[in-house]
Amino acid sequence: MRTQVVIIGGGPSGLLLSQLLHRKGIDTVVLERKTRQYVLGRIRAGILEVGFVDLMREAGVGARMDNEGFIHDGTVIAFDNEDFHVDFKRHTGTTVMVYGQTEVTRDLYDAREAMEGKIVFNVDGVTIHGADSDAPHVTYFVDGVEHRIDCDYVAGCDGFHGVSRQTIPLSVRREYEKVYPFGWLGILSETPPVHEELIYSNSDRGFALCSMRNANLSRYYIQCSLSDSPDDWDDAGFWEELKRRIPEEHADNLITGPSIEKSIAPLRSFVTEPMRWGRLFLCGDAAHIVPPTGAKGLNTAASDIHYLYHGLLAKYQDGEAEGLDSYSGKALARVWKAERFSWATTNMLHRYPDQSEFDIKMQRADLEFLRDNDSAQKVFAENYVGLPY
Ligand code: PHB
Repeated sequence: MRTQVVIIGGGPSGLLLSQLLHRKGIDTVVLERKTRQYVLGRIRAGILEVGFVDLMREAGVGARMDNEGFIHDGTVIAFDNEDFHVDFKRHTGTTVMVYGQTEVTRDLYDAREAMEGKIVFNVDGVTIHGADSDAPHVTYFVDGVEHRIDCDYVAGCDGFHGVSRQTIPLSVRREYEKVYPFGWLGILSETPPVHEELIYSNSDRGFALCSMRNANLSRYYIQCSLSDSPDDWDDAGFWEELKRRIPEEHADNLITGPSIEKSIAPLRSFVTEPMRWGRLFLCGDAAHIVPPTGAKGLNTAASDIHYLYHGLLAKYQDGEAEGLDSYSGKALARVWKAERFSWATTNMLHRYPDQSEFDIKMQRADLEFLRDNDSAQKVFAENYVGLPY
């Protein structure tokens, strides 16, 4: 088999790239290790930056998002039983869209299917050959049978544990990592959201976040210990703890109900450099991870896809290689800023096991400065809605 671009990974990044390229007549094959059902079962963040929203529209898959998504003009930040509002619209002129990553992925699968895009599920043993040559190819197995695809380029959209990053030799690859000493316990419940905007809350008992998917579907998180398991938390225990971590006025409004999903995610910051090796390009979680505070994961993947898509387009349409040559540098410049924001926001809002009295005073000063200073709110808002591509 031969295609122009092999895309490894059928999550939102890989599907979006495939969809964008296909609409410009560039042929792709997507290889996915799991099934569509499995990919759609993963629950991830639900905030889309304006750049991501534009990319979905450009890919022709924005209709349901535009219909069903909620526009948020700002967010609430709480500490000490009080809260304040950061107005994105006033500070940046833009807003964010509340629309779950699961829904994004579903829309992309439907669009790929409608265009008869090639997606191979249940592949294993994916191996990238000759990424640093002019003629790469990818081999993989389905049901024990080996297949081979020759291609011009390989897009590694296969996440943190995928093979793409590992294909880049250690002699050229440099990795940067910070692991946080806590996790997030998240639940999904068929209840109305406690507030019309998200609430990010710093409390003595640890961080909490009130988020949502739609008018009758809420997503809540509490900071938990890394040694906790979801089974340690029954629904009543979760709701009780959440209420103790958000201002009373919101706790009093909280409508609780049975959880329909409950899981724990560890928090990690990670970046690999470079994001390109020969004809292999890393995108999204394959190259970088952020802690979820600030919802930058999918959004940072989207800027990679934007740069790679335009680089490939310039190459195929005009023979211009500059976009591909500058891919890693451009993508990383934006990635590091998203890393900084996610790290700083995580630091501002969580309790650390080894936090000193001094550290707590610094955190408080950070929060008070943000609450009281318009310039600080503008900086927060610019980062939250997403830095320009
Ligand atoms: C979510 O809705 O799952 C969500 C929202 C905002 C975040 C993280 C997660 O910062």
